[in-house]
Amino acid sequence: MSEPSYAGLEERILILAPTPKDAETTQRVFDSVGLSSLICADMAQLCREMAKGVGAALVTKEAILADRTHCLQAILQGQPLWSDYPLIVLTPSGAESPQKMKLLESVGNMTLMKRPVQLPALLSTMQAALRDRRRQYKMRDLLADYEIAVKNAEAANQAKSEFLANMSHEIRTPMNAIVGLTDLLAAENATKEKRREFLHMLKVSGQSLLELINDLLDIAKIENESVELEKVPFDLCQLLNDVIHIMKTKADTKGIYLLFDCPASLGGYFTGDPIRLKQIVTNLVSNAIKFTDRGSVTLKVELDGDTVKIDVADTGIGIPKDKQESIFSKFSQADSSITRKYGGTGLGLAITRKLVRLMDGSISVVSEPGIGSTFTVQIPLPRTHAGIPKVTKSRAHAKAEKLRQNMRPLSC
Ligand SMILES: Nc1ncnc2c1ncn2[C@@H]1O[C@H](COP(=O)(O)OP(=O)(O)OP(=O)(O)O)[C@@H](O)[C@H]1O
Ligand SMILES: [Mg+2]
Repeated sequence: MSEPSYAGLEERILILAPTPKDAETTQRVFDSVGLSSLICADMAQLCREMAKGVGAALVTKEAILADRTHCLQAILQGQPLWSDYPLIVLTPSGAESPQKMKLLESVGNMTLMKRPVQLPALLSTMQAALRDRRRQYKMRDLLADYEIAVKNAEAANQAKSEFLANMSHEIRTPMNAIVGLTDLLAAENATKEKRREFLHMLKVSGQSLLELINDLLDIAKIENESVELEKVPFDLCQLLNDVIHIMKTKADTKGIYLLFDCPASLGGYFTGDPIRLKQIVTNLVSNAIKFTDRGSVTLKVELDGDTVKIDVADTGIGIPKDKQESIFSKFSQADSSITRKYGGTGLGLAITRKLVRLMDGSISVVSEPGIGSTFTVQIPLPRTHAGIPKVTKSRAHAKAEKLRQNMRPLSC
């Protein structure tokens, strides 16, 4: 007996013949034209196999009528909407009683063939049944895709509603402050000192709005694939020290240790996009400080060949296991109380992951609620030994950096 040409469950023909000899002869016929088949010993096996997947089934009328357990009827009735199992039923020559015909027809989608069967007729009927079944499976796959698309659309819609709610909150808070402060500034009895304080608060509120807008523009730009990464030489230790310098005030205010010591092996220049790399590390350190109330935030860097590994570890609130993937999706926070307690819109990590991927790198997190989190970024960053050109940035890039440096400092 030769091997069936295609062993997929959904393409095979199930054979339930009156005798083992008949079954083997039939299987040989199918083999000879490359049709895969399986011989079933009884109706119970046929039903079990049908449930796994089937192209078509070849059964005798006697087997159907003798099915006391009604398993075939049950399996045919339990089919999903897209399915209509094709059955080819071999009947004895001669006329059938109307009652038996009615019983047979009630079973399902069947094609009756009188015995003795003409081989060409059997093969062409079988091919038609298999084609029909393939179309059914195609419909099943389309329905499954459709269901996924509907679920995704629903999830996107839900995320958008949550985003709008978060965003209104994020915009309203600094806007209220701005409107209130301008009134206070305008008051004639405000002292010089008070005015200075109000101006500072105005600046902080403005910065927070600008930061939000920058994040939105960033995510839109990354999604439009219009972000172009620079490839310029830069001093990695200097860059990381800059991040620490910017973040230090916030950590000090919260009474958290911010630890970083750049290893000597990382001295010298690397080639990459320093502004975007800074954005990645800043987002992670900013989150670490934001979600840590006591203890420390540690930035650790090491080099493995051409790959730089950056760990940002904290002793903060941690992230539940079931949220450790979703927090990288845009507008997603570990839970809704996060917004109330810590603010933010859930864009930082989405931007970070997209930037890391643009750099052919990876980002992961290990975290335990109540103990802390460690975010690890690995990015290929070749060293450069070439001389450092005086002007390494494009004008647009330099302008963007200036804007960022001036306008989006602490984002905790
Ligand atoms: N170090 C961390 N410790 C605990 N939870 C974290 C940490 N970093 C991120 N998270 C969780 O992941 C969520 C998503 O982080 P992400 O930076 O994207 O958003 P955000 O900080 O809430 O807001 P945004 O960065 O847009 O201001 C956070 O809301 C928080 O639930
Ligand atoms: Mg954040």
